Amino acid sequence: MGDIARQAPEKDTGEDIYQYLLERITNLENRNLELREQYRQMESEKRYVETQKIRYERELRKLKSEIEQLRSPPLVIGTVTDVIDNSRVIVRSSAGPRFLVRTSQLIDPDLLKPGVRCTLNQQSLAIVDVLPTSYDAQIYGMELVESPEETYENIGGLEAQIEEIREAVELPLTKPHLFEKVGISPPKGVLLYGPPGTGKTLLARAVAHQTNAHFLRVVGSELVQKYIGEGARLVRELFDLAKQKAPSIIFIDEIDAIGAHRNDSTTSGDREVQRTLMQLLAEMDGFDNRGDVKIVAATNRIDILDRALLRPGRFDRMIEIPLPDHQGRLAILKIHTRNMNIGEDVNLAEISRLTEGKNGADLRAICMEAGMFAIRMERDVVNSEDFMKAIDKLSVDFDRHHFHTTFGEMFA
Ligand SMILES: Nc1ncnc2c1ncn2[C@@H]1O[C@H](COP(=O)(O)OP(=O)(O)OP(=O)(O)O)[C@@H](O)[C@H]1O
Ligand SMILES: [Mg+2]
Repeated sequence: MGDIARQAPEKDTGEDIYQYLLERITNLENRNLELREQYRQMESEKRYVETQKIRYERELRKLKSEIEQLRSPPLVIGTVTDVIDNSRVIVRSSAGPRFLVRTSQLIDPDLLKPGVRCTLNQQSLAIVDVLPTSYDAQIYGMELVESPEETYENIGGLEAQIEEIREAVELPLTKPHLFEKVGISPPKGVLLYGPPGTGKTLLARAVAHQTNAHFLRVVGSELVQKYIGEGARLVRELFDLAKQKAPSIIFIDEIDAIGAHRNDSTTSGDREVQRTLMQLLAEMDGFDNRGDVKIVAATNRIDILDRALLRPGRFDRMIEIPLPDHQGRLAILKIHTRNMNIGEDVNLAEISRLTEGKNGADLRAICMEAGMFAIRMERDVVNSEDFMKAIDKLSVDFDRHHFHTTFGEMFA
């Protein structure tokens, strides 16, 4: 454009001026377009910056209100003990004393029931909010989130027992109408009993794997607590949570820890255990309908269990898990050698015959020991000799162990 401006005075003819002006006009038009484009861009940039500004302002307000909240004094936690009318409520603050307080109108009066936890204003102790019921952290730990890997296929020689437990636990949860039609109520609790190491815990793990219900598992000794009433509270909360999450299955392993005969024992520890048991009895057939909550328990000392636990209405299905017989041992050996590299000379039926009286855990140990012998000899195939050595080693170990315990008892 500068060039054109400089050349303009040299050309005098009308034609030239005309040409010159034409060029100038197109140039100016182009320029105009350019500027308009720039204007549009600026305009959109401005809009963007404006929205940005609004966003920052909103954030600022949020942060300010958060600071405000952080600065506000803490609320006192209390428990509602009595509701007099819609605006007056008696609460017990966490410190102990009881107060007659007012409630906020924003609180749904239906939520205010004796026993509910709530937050109170520090000065007026007016009820500010109603808190959801919460359970002991230990109770939440009992809920099984990831299901175990064991399936019914991992259990050898217990087909009849598997059938029975499925019937008693899964059927009522999956096909309740069958029981309605026949007109009976399904069994409430299932007790697995038998010698140690025969697969009781394993069976429960398989049930947990297979079922779609919530699974809560607890070991009996976990329910034995240090302070009076704590064990009973844990049992109550366990059943509450199970009810809330229904359909659910509660599995109590080693139930003899709390379920032993009640006697006239005088130590306070024993009495606490008895209180826990009584709570369990009450929960199992108390006033409250348990809904879709099934209870499975396991023990290897059914002889010391309290009779009240075993009566119909509580553990009304008792499944004996016996020591495996020849066929059972063979099935268990097959399961535990499934992933092993075993030689062709290994005769599992023969091993099963030689391990009369051994339980599932022993058989697994034999397989593992046989593998260890093979590794020691730097072989990658486990042969018959390894198994024989493993059987010998295990029976020797067992005898020595037995000797030690009697030895210990003599000096105890
Ligand atoms: N029937 C079985 N089939 C396959 N493996 C078994 C069987 N029984 C026991 N086992 C093996 O033994 C291990 C221990 O079994 P489990 O923990 O179920 O014993 P338990 O009956 O609960 O004993 P306890 O009464 O001492 O608690 C299992 O992890 C499993 O590897
Ligand atoms: Mg067990």
